Amino acid sequence: MTNKYILPSVTEAKRRTRQKTSVEHESFEILDQHRDIGNGRKFCIRTYGCQANERDSETIVGIFEALGFQETKQYEDADVILLNTCAIRENAEDKVFGELGFLKKYKTTNPDLLLGVCGCMVQQETVINRILKSYHHVDFIFGTHNIHNLPTILYQALIAKEKMIEVYSKEGSIIENLPVSRFGKHKAWVNIIYGCDKFCTYCIVPFTRGKERSRLPEDILKEVNDLIAEGYQEITLLGQNVNAYGKDLNLSRGFAGLLEAVAKTGINRIRFTTSHPWDFSDEMIDIIASYPNIMPYFHLPVQSGDNEILKLMGRRYKVEDYKAIYDKLSAKLPHCSFTTDIIVGFPNETEEQFQRTLDLYDYCQFDSAFTFIYSPRSNTPAADMEDNIPLEIKKERLQRLNKKVGYYAKKKNQAYLNQVVKVLVDGPSKKNPEIYSGYSETNKLVNFSFKNATIGDIISVKITETKSWSLNGEEI
Ligand code: SAH
Ligand code: SF4
Ligand code: F3S
Repeated sequence: MTNKYILPSVTEAKRRTRQKTSVEHESFEILDQHRDIGNGRKFCIRTYGCQANERDSETIVGIFEALGFQETKQYEDADVILLNTCAIRENAEDKVFGELGFLKKYKTTNPDLLLGVCGCMVQQETVINRILKSYHHVDFIFGTHNIHNLPTILYQALIAKEKMIEVYSKEGSIIENLPVSRFGKHKAWVNIIYGCDKFCTYCIVPFTRGKERSRLPEDILKEVNDLIAEGYQEITLLGQNVNAYGKDLNLSRGFAGLLEAVAKTGINRIRFTTSHPWDFSDEMIDIIASYPNIMPYFHLPVQSGDNEILKLMGRRYKVEDYKAIYDKLSAKLPHCSFTTDIIVGFPNETEEQFQRTLDLYDYCQFDSAFTFIYSPRSNTPAADMEDNIPLEIKKERLQRLNKKVGYYAKKKNQAYLNQVVKVLVDGPSKKNPEIYSGYSETNKLVNFSFKNATIGDIISVKITETKSWSLNGEEI
C-alpha cells in the first residue's frame, strides 16, 4: 500500500497571484464507483469555528448524503466521524486535539470506525505532522480547498483502507454545483466571497482560506431566489470581509450593488457578516438604510481602540475612521444595533493603549462583543513580535473589558422594555418547551410566550422583561 500524501505549505498559501478564479457550474460529480459507499453506514460531524466552517459542513453533509450515508449525532452510532476544525486561536486547536484523544476509545470498541479531520487547522503542515506523530487513529485528512474531492477521499479511506491526506495549499476554482444539506429550515447561509487578502498581522485565515474570490452575482441571486421558493425567510451573506465583494470581478458597485440586488429579490430578512471597517462605503450605508429587508444590525470588528496597535495589527483604519462609520450608521439607522470583536493583549499593548479600547467601547456602547486574548499563530507576522506583557495582565484586561461588555449589553437591552419587536420564530426555547425563541431584527435573542406562532413565522412580540443577553416577552 502506498500513501501519497498531499501536504500544505505555508509559503505557498501566503502567495497571491493576479490569476482570475474560474467558476465551474457542473464539475462536481459522483462517480458510479463511489455512489453507494455510504449505504447502511452513518456519519457524525462536529463543527468548530466560524460561519464559513458551518457552511462548509452543510456542503460536507450534502456530499455524505449523496453517497448514501445517514447522519447521526452520536459518536457511538457512527461509522465515520469527522471533525471540521478551526485554527483561529490556540484554544480552538487545543479543543480539537483533546477531542481526538477522547475519540480513540471509539476505535477500540469499533475497529472499523473511520476518523477524519478537515477544516482550517489541517491547512498547517505542523498540525498534520502532530496528528501523524501522536494521533495514529486518524484515518483521513482533507483541507478547505479539497471538499469537492470528499467522495474519492472517503472511498480510498473506507473501501481501499488507505490513510488519506489531501490538503491543497491554494484555492482552486469556485465550484457551484456542490450538494448542500442546510442545517436551518428558514434561515440560510449564503457564501458571497471566499478567502481573505487583508493579512491582519495576527490572523491565520488568509493562510487557511486562500485569496479573495467572489461568487458571480447571478449565481448568488439564483441561490437566494431558490431559497425564497423553498420558503426561507432569512439569509446571511457570508465572507471574511463581505465589503470586499466583487473587487476581484471588477464589479463597479461591489458589495453595495450586490446588497441592493439581493434586497430586491424580496427575501424577508437579509443579514451579512463580517464587515471590515476599512472598506465600508457610503453607498453601502445608503443601501442598507433604503431597504427595510436589510436588517439594522452590524457586526463590525474593531479589534482595538488604539491607533498604534491598529497599525501594528495591519487593520488599515484609525479609531477616527471607525467612529465616523459608526456615527454615519447610527445617524441613518437610529434603532440599529452593533456588535464587535476585540483582541486584548496584542504584543506590547500598554495600559494606556488598552484604556483607549475601553474609551472606544464607551463611545460606541456596543450591544455585545466577542472578546479574545491575543493568541500567537505561527507564521503570522505578529507571532515574531517580542511580547513583554505577562499573561496575567492580559487576563485581567479581558476581565475589565468583559465587565464593560456586560454593562452595556444590559443597558442596551433595557431600552427594549415595553417595545414591540418583530421576531423570526426559531422554535421552543432551550430551557422551556412552553416558550418559543427567535431573533429580533436587531439580532436580539427573544424568548416569548406564544399564541398562534409557528416556527418560521415573523411575528410581533411585546417585551416584558430585559436581561443582559436576552429579552423576554409575549406574542401580540
Ligand atoms: N474576518 C473577520 C474575523 C474573523 S476571525 C474580520 O476581520 O472581522 C474572528 C475574530 O477572531 C477576529 O475578529 C479577531 O477578533 C479574532 N482573532 C483572529 N485572530 C486572532 C488571534 N490570533 N488571537 C486572538 N483573536 C484572534
Ligand atoms: Fe483575519 Fe483580518 Fe482577514 Fe478578518 S480581515 S479574516 S481578521 S486577516
Ligand atoms: Fe476558524 Fe477558519 Fe473560520 S480559522 S474562524 S474556521 S475561517
